[in-house]
Amino acid sequence: MLETLEGLGQEAGEALRAIQDKSELGAWRSAYLGRRGKITDAVKAVGTLPPDERPAYGRRANELKRALEAAYEARAGELEKQSAVSARAADQVDVSLPGRPPRPGRLHPATRTLREIYRIFAEMGFQVYRSRDVETDDFNFTWLNMPPHHPARDMWDTFYTTQPGVILRTHTSPGQIHAMRQYHPEPIRVILPGMCYRYEQITARSEIMFNQVEGLAVGEEITMADLKGTLVDFARRMFGQGRQVRFRASHFPFTEPSAEVDMDCILCNGEGCRVCKYTGWLEILGCGMVHPVVLAYGGYDPAIYSGFAFGMGPERIAMLKHGIEDIRHFWGNDLRFLKQFG
Ligand code: FA5
Repeated sequence: MLETLEGLGQEAGEALRAIQDKSELGAWRSAYLGRRGKITDAVKAVGTLPPDERPAYGRRANELKRALEAAYEARAGELEKQSAVSARAADQVDVSLPGRPPRPGRLHPATRTLREIYRIFAEMGFQVYRSRDVETDDFNFTWLNMPPHHPARDMWDTFYTTQPGVILRTHTSPGQIHAMRQYHPEPIRVILPGMCYRYEQITARSEIMFNQVEGLAVGEEITMADLKGTLVDFARRMFGQGRQVRFRASHFPFTEPSAEVDMDCILCNGEGCRVCKYTGWLEILGCGMVHPVVLAYGGYDPAIYSGFAFGMGPERIAMLKHGIEDIRHFWGNDLRFLKQFG
């Protein structure tokens, strides 16, 4: 009987050592030490033995049971430790793997176009003058020769604030008055970039928020020839040296005479296509000689000083340069569009 007990002890010990996974421990425990386990049964079997064999058998059976319980606890501890170590190893960062490259940002196409315009005018001696987006009615209209009720105000309907007379500027032209009042009677050569706001229908060509770049030169003996030379040179530096440029008579209340500047279509080279509406020409900006009334509001005596001014839309220029068919892409925040630049 004692031999069977020793054999069972050995079997249980080997089975325990063979266990490699925590989840198998429970099965082992109930097979040997559970209520109906083999060792438990062996301990109970003491009652079936002849009385003289009972003490020795009983002592050994209990010893074995305690030893196996201790071995069970030890094995459980070992397996717990092993699984913690392997979990940590699985979690470890492999420092030899190549890093994930950061996604570099890039400049917005409107910003890129603005910078190109700044560079070209900087080379011609124009400084950047920043003016405010929130304006008064006087700066946006009255002092640009559009007194209250002037019909031209309709062309530049805007957004109004709850404060009477305070509006969002519809063009960068009010910056002309700020610059003139700051610098008069010194000569001026500045460009004025920034956002403009208009209450109008959003279409493929028109947004309610867009950039403009204004230009202003004031001094003695500035003529229309200076205006033409500057703008023809700009168009050629921006779009290519071979470009044809034409000045078409127009009207703005704040310039006299006024003109629109067209350039031969860069897509069809003046042959006529869908983009230029089969005219062969693309409009790029409005311009003119600063109106004497505006010069006077700016603090310059129109009998002594003269000046020219122009205003262009950088998004429309970017559309021409890159063949962008819809202005709404600029502020749509669609990365598929934005990623194509830069
Ligand atoms: C003006 O705003 C005049 N202040 C320009 C000017 C300045 C003339 C100085 C003479 C002297 P106009 O409304 O045409 O003019 O706008 C000028 C340019 O802004 C347009 O040629 C176009 O490129 C751009 N623009 C106008 N409205 C929009 C719009 N809704 N969305 C996008 N671009 C626009």
